[in-house]
Amino acid sequence: MRENIHVAQSTEDNHHQRQRSLITSLRSKLANTWITTKIFIFLLFIFLLSASLSWMFTSVSGESRFQVTSIFTRNTNKSTTTTTNIPKLLIKIPLNCKAVNSNTTQTCPSNYPTKFKPEISSSETCPDYFRWIHRDLKVWQKTGITRETLERARPNAHFRVVIKSGRLYVDQYEKAFQTRDVFTIWGILQLLRMYPGQIPDLELLFLCHDRPAIWKRDFNRKRKNTWPPPPLFHYCGHRDAYDIVFPDWSFWGWPELNIKEWNKLSVALKEGNKRVKWDDRVPYAYWKGNPHVSPIRGDLMRCNVSDKYDPMVRLYVQDWRSEIEVGFRGSNLEDQCTHRYKIYIEGNAWSVSEKYILSCDSMTLLVKPEYYDFFIRSMVPMKHYWPIRPNNKCGDLKFAVEWGNNHTEKAQVIGRQGSEYMMKNLEMKYVYDYMLYVLQGYGKLMKLDVTVPENATEVCSETMACPITDGGLIRQCMDDSLVMSPSVKAACYLPKPYGDYELKRFLKKQERTERKVEKWTDEYWNLRGPT
Ligand SMILES: *[C@@H]1O[C@H](CO)[C@@H](O)[C@H](O)[C@H]1NC(C)=O
Ligand SMILES: *[C@@H]1O[C@H](CO)[C@@H](O)[C@H](O)[C@H]1NC(C)=O
Ligand SMILES: *[C@@H]1O[C@H](CO)[C@@H](O)[C@H](O)[C@H]1NC(C)=O
Ligand SMILES: *[C@@H]1O[C@H](CO)[C@@H](O)[C@H](O)[C@H]1NC(C)=O
Ligand SMILES: *[C@@H]1O[C@H](CO)[C@@H](O)[C@H](O)[C@H]1NC(C)=O
Repeated sequence: MRENIHVAQSTEDNHHQRQRSLITSLRSKLANTWITTKIFIFLLFIFLLSASLSWMFTSVSGESRFQVTSIFTRNTNKSTTTTTNIPKLLIKIPLNCKAVNSNTTQTCPSNYPTKFKPEISSSETCPDYFRWIHRDLKVWQKTGITRETLERARPNAHFRVVIKSGRLYVDQYEKAFQTRDVFTIWGILQLLRMYPGQIPDLELLFLCHDRPAIWKRDFNRKRKNTWPPPPLFHYCGHRDAYDIVFPDWSFWGWPELNIKEWNKLSVALKEGNKRVKWDDRVPYAYWKGNPHVSPIRGDLMRCNVSDKYDPMVRLYVQDWRSEIEVGFRGSNLEDQCTHRYKIYIEGNAWSVSEKYILSCDSMTLLVKPEYYDFFIRSMVPMKHYWPIRPNNKCGDLKFAVEWGNNHTEKAQVIGRQGSEYMMKNLEMKYVYDYMLYVLQGYGKLMKLDVTVPENATEVCSETMACPITDGGLIRQCMDDSLVMSPSVKAACYLPKPYGDYELKRFLKKQERTERKVEKWTDEYWNLRGPT
């Protein structure tokens, strides 16, 4: 831009010089006659006129040049750049509900976009936890997934999802607890709205219980009739299981517990965080939940009371039944960022509470879990959380809290880094990107004719949301999480999967850190003798 302006300026200078030399030569030739004098005056007049016109032109073009430059400068302003990047053809796909009083059944619109090319190609790499996708699908890499392999997962599945030409069909076998199945299917529908044309044809089976179901011990490479294991989608994984890890329903809402969809809730948590500064927070470890879902949680309750020393923890039983009765006044997650330390402990399997606990800017004391959801696997001890041994909870917790109160800056950094992980790496866009890559990878493995079963029905956002008109939280969660237009930004760039050696090194490093913390803890307690 700037160079162009220079070029324009020097051309104008040449123009003036040429005009001037032309007039000088004319004058020398014609100066001796009166006529020539008249002509000269005339020419001088023309010259002055052209010069003034030229000056006016220059000033006008100068003005426009100034505008060009100022637009150029403004374009470098980030906020303006985002507005100018809004594509002219932004497609909006609002819910297309039939009139409320019409009693014809709601159908799926036929005019959903089937293709959409994102305008902004992605330059950012996805968070590290995407590197596990490949490993979750690896066991089918050689064989692919045949009809026979897939159908062996059916006895464990709550429903089958068939995606064909961008439309989604569901065959439900069993009702899931609360609205787990509803919001899981809703989430996949939103993914289809977000990335039209990018999800391949596929059939998948989904399990909505807490625990995985495809245990490695039941499948063996040497026994042909069990190999490869059946692919089953589930909310969490385990090192001894083959279940394919997928985001749980809570990202789109958990209305039964008044938990809003993640987009809205993460903003509320960010705000809630500002209410009490870290230094002003209660210098104890906080946990509130249902202790009856697993023995390890019941065991945790023992840490609350001790007549020998202050255990430094504050544990509270969440009685959901009474919470429901009082309108969830005592269970607002954004009101729970009041302690410097928060405890995460899994329930029957992974716990949905994990992302809420880690979002508080408080240092998370993470009781080493057995089950993992899709994003926890790349979190690092002492960077994002403080590791706690499951078989030494009370002692480890007390030491961690004392350490944090003695090293407040370091404890704050761990708390902040954990929350940054949740707020950045777990933005809804990344959750959808993760689902996209899992389904694309899974789709590549399909060695069967994707067919819509006779009992399946087509499902879309309209058929799910429109009939719900009671003004309740289910519909609100749906409205809040509805993807209104295809993503103008492409999915993040998928990082290379972990190589065997690289993964071993990553896990070794985590283990070394855990050992180091254990050593500090044990030294502290050895000095004090048994309690
Ligand atoms: C960019 O835009 C914002 C908001 O319009 C404004 O406050 C800011 O001063 C601008 N920055 C520059 C470098 O022009
Ligand atoms: C549809 O609504 C009309 C009146 O609003 C009613 O008479 C009719 O029975 C309804 N049909 C069905 C199938 O519910
Ligand atoms: C734990 O201790 C706190 C404070 O003393 C108390 O309010 C709370 O009810 C106790 N929790 C349990 C589960 O006993
Ligand atoms: C914290 O500091 C106190 C007082 O200096 C000390 O007695 C205690 O051992 C320290 N605890 C830890 C865990 O560092
Ligand atoms: C479809 O549903 C009917 C009735 O519930 C049942 O008898 C039939 O076996 C189902 N078909 C398949 C293929 O599952």
